[in-house]
Parts: sequence; structure tokens; C-alpha cells
Amino acid sequence: MILPIVAYGDPVLRKKAKSITKDYPNLDTLIENMKETMYGAYGVGLAAPQVGIPIRLFLVDASSFAEDEVFTEEEQALLKDFKRTFINAEILEEEGDEWAFNEGCLSIPDVREDVFRQPNVKIKYQDENFKEHIEEFDGIIARIVQHEYDHIEGVLFTDKLSSLRKRLIKSKLTNISKGKIKVDYKMRFPLMKKRR
Ligand code: NI
Repeated sequence: MILPIVAYGDPVLRKKAKSITKDYPNLDTLIENMKETMYGAYGVGLAAPQVGIPIRLFLVDASSFAEDEVFTEEEQALLKDFKRTFINAEILEEEGDEWAFNEGCLSIPDVREDVFRQPNVKIKYQDENFKEHIEEFDGIIARIVQHEYDHIEGVLFTDKLSSLRKRLIKSKLTNISKGKIKVDYKMRFPLMKKRR
């Protein structure tokens, strides 16, 4: 089932998400629905707060980036197979000189901005079977993981912009909250006026 993606301005996107245990109700169904929602919107990642649920769960499937020629062949090969479910993730370390990449977000349609992040990340998480992993990622893979991880911390990529860039996109963000935007996937807008 495709779930509506929560738009910028909804308070659920600002909560620090809570850890979950194996017995979280209907977790398998939620993960399946989130996958369907992510693929339906052509996203490379989706975090539970983006479907209105403030728990520490996010998915990444970078394969749709694999054809993109901004990436090297080596990166494309990594992206092609990069698919993970992250539960209760905690970033343990981030390292390296910050680099810029033009990011977007399914909750903030039509806004793309250069965001600076460190290139190396070490992260602890559990997979969908609650098996614990510690992995290190770098470059574009690290960035996708960092972006989704931010969602479970209540952080959006637009928070990381300069105050000038923030001012320049402010009215666009307000319009997104109000649903004054064309988008080809199902969304839920916090400030949309109800029709009587
Ligand atoms: Ni996002």
C-alpha cells in the first residue's frame, strides 16, 4: 500500500524518532508499505517520519542513481547494489572534509540545494531481522545514509543551508506546506486548507 508522504512543515518531521523493538506492531507491513511508497515516488531513501511515524526506521535503495553519469563507474557499481533497511541506527563517527552535493527530499518536492556533509560515516544499526551491524560508508552512499539518518533526528537538508539560501527558498517551503505544489506522488500537507 502506498502511504502519503508528509510534506515540509509537519511537526512529525521535527521529532527525534524513538527506537523500536522486535515486537513493534505490524513492522513487516510498515516496511513493505514504505518500500512501495519509496519506489512509487522514485526516491532513493525514505524514513518512517516521512510517512508520519516518528520511529528510528529508514530504507535506502540507491539503484536508481546507478545510471546517473555524475557518478564514477566505481560509484555506479556500488549504488546499483546498495539496498538496506536501517532500524535503530546510531551514527558512531563522521569524518573527512565536507563536500557539496545537490540534494533533494521527497518531503520537500522541487527544492534542490547543495548541501555540505562529511564523506565518511560509521553507523550501527539493526536490519529487518534485528541483526546488529556496524558498517562504514563513504562518498555518495554515506550521503544518502546521512540524509535519511537526519530524518530520524528531526533534521531536514534545508536546515543545513546558509541563511541566504534559506531566505531565498522560504516562500517555496511555505507553499509546499500549504500544498501549493504539483507533485506526482501522494502527499499530506500540514497547512492545506480543508475544502468545505
Ligand atoms: Ni529526505
